[in-house]
Amino acid sequence: MGLVISTVNMKSGVGKITLTVNLVTSLAKYHGKRVLVLDLDF
Ligand SMILES: Nc1ncnc2c1ncn2[C@@H]1O[C@H](COP(=O)(O)OP(=O)(O)OP(=O)(O)O)[C@@H](O)[C@H]1O
Ligand SMILES: [Mg+2]
Repeated sequence: MGLVISTVNMKSGVGKITLTVNLVTSLAKYHGKRVLVLDLDF
């Protein structure tokens, strides 16, 4: 089972995806992790 990291904020346009993309890029590129990004917009 992988680790699940959630980036959550009720407000729109506060940088949730920006933070997430930079975080997973760092994990993949510099820490050799395999990552899956799900953007759950409603
Ligand atoms: N630290 C920052 N400084 C300046 N602009 C930023 C920063 N983080 C994000 N932005 C800009 O703010 C906008 C919204 O960012 P983003 O799409 O990551 O937010 P979001 O919380 O995922 O939005 P949404 O609720 O619409 O899904 C984008 O144009 C992004 O480039
Ligand atoms: Mg978003």
